[in-house]
Amino acid sequence: MVGKSSISLIPAVIESREIVKTFPNGREVIQVLDGVDFKLERGKTASIRGESGSGKTTFLNIISGLEAVDSGQLFWDGNRVDLRSSGELAAVRSSQIGFIFQAYYLLPELNLWENVLLAARLRGKPEPRERDRAEYLLRRVGLAERFKFSVEKLSGGERQRAALARALMNRPRLILADEPTGNLDETTGDSMIELLLEMVREEGASLILVTHNMKHAAKTDVSYRLHLGKLQPVKHNG
Ligand SMILES: Nc1ncnc2c1ncn2[C@@H]1O[C@H](COP(=O)(O)OP(=O)(O)OP(=O)(O)O)[C@@H](O)[C@H]1O
Ligand SMILES: [Mg+2]
Repeated sequence: MVGKSSISLIPAVIESREIVKTFPNGREVIQVLDGVDFKLERGKTASIRGESGSGKTTFLNIISGLEAVDSGQLFWDGNRVDLRSSGELAAVRSSQIGFIFQAYYLLPELNLWENVLLAARLRGKPEPRERDRAEYLLRRVGLAERFKFSVEKLSGGERQRAALARALMNRPRLILADEPTGNLDETTGDSMIELLLEMVREEGASLILVTHNMKHAAKTDVSYRLHLGKLQPVKHNG
């Protein structure tokens, strides 16, 4: 008897197969990734922990097509992308992947509202529905009174909430967050992660969260550790 099929018809948002990545270091090479297999279903959240220098940021850069692989395969929504040109990938990336970094990277010469709208503006003049979307997101992250604020007047927690709004602006399928609480105190960091997970779920996006914080890592659907070039699944609470 054939059992009920468990094969999903919806392709994974991201899939990597046997990714190998090295960097030159003088006459030597640094082997950063040594055959990384990873798959994330739509709407799911994953965390990646690992020592400094283990290759977490490199892996996010590869997943988003910012960095080329030495060998292996990368798929976005079931389509192989590792052989495509960087220009072709850039266009898709800007509409499908949102980024949040430890160092917020908001533009100081623009106010908060303009920073969030910028993602849409890069693709042309913002339409009314895009202005509405930026306004909705800023309200949703609790910055309703700060629309016209200079980003330099915001606290670290407020800047990171603004960065979350910006990352979600184009309704990306995937959010990549690289140590988003690295510059925040514990309480602010905890609430940032709660808000991030809440909004990612609300928007139906997938998330890869790179973090050193075990408590935060345990909150995602699946967890991994990057160690000696390999991604190992981690179980929380046994
Ligand atoms: N462009 C590059 N050229 C040469 N070496 C690089 C480059 N980018 C990263 N590396 C090296 O690859 C390794 C992995 O770096 P990566 O930034 O991915 O680590 P990480 O896990 O994100 O560390 P951290 O937790 O400190 O952010 C490090 O040894 C780093 O020096
Ligand atoms: Mg890093």
